[in-house]
Amino acid sequence: MSHDEHIHPIGAHIQRQHHELQRLVRGIGHFFMHPPVDASLDDRSTQVCEMLAQLRHNLADHFSQEDDCGFMEEAVARLPRLGSCVLMLEKQHPEFLSELDHLILSVKAEQMTAEAWGRRADEFARFAQALFEHEDIENQILQEGFNDDLGLECDKPLTKDET
Ligand SMILES: [Fe+2]
Ligand SMILES: [Fe+2]
Repeated sequence: MSHDEHIHPIGAHIQRQHHELQRLVRGIGHFFMHPPVDASLDDRSTQVCEMLAQLRHNLADHFSQEDDCGFMEEAVARLPRLGSCVLMLEKQHPEFLSELDHLILSVKAEQMTAEAWGRRADEFARFAQALFEHEDIENQILQEGFNDDLGLECDKPLTKDET
């Protein structure tokens, strides 16, 4: 039931973007956890800022497509109980972008000691976790709003603010 051909065409496009974003996020997470041993802390900072800027660019593009393409609204029209869920997801888009902006500025401004690097790595891991949860719910909405009733309920806030 998770095959793309059973999903709205725009939904399939969005899900492909989710896969690509996940790959990018995992790559950055891996870089934070296992930075190249022969690179100085300054070089690591420069490299990770470039990766984060790329992610920020792709994410902004992805979010604006989600906001504009109308698939969420279409899903809500079919299953009104998804409405609160969709509102929450749309509200999170600018929050994710500003978190990334903050992280990029912090890495650029900070004297990157090993301790500071570890702190930023943790921060990024929390960001990644929250983003994956966000995208996962969207994938479920795509599935449920257009195809299968999975019993999805969004009566409590997503875990983004709980970590
Ligand atoms: Fe989204
Ligand atoms: Fe998304």
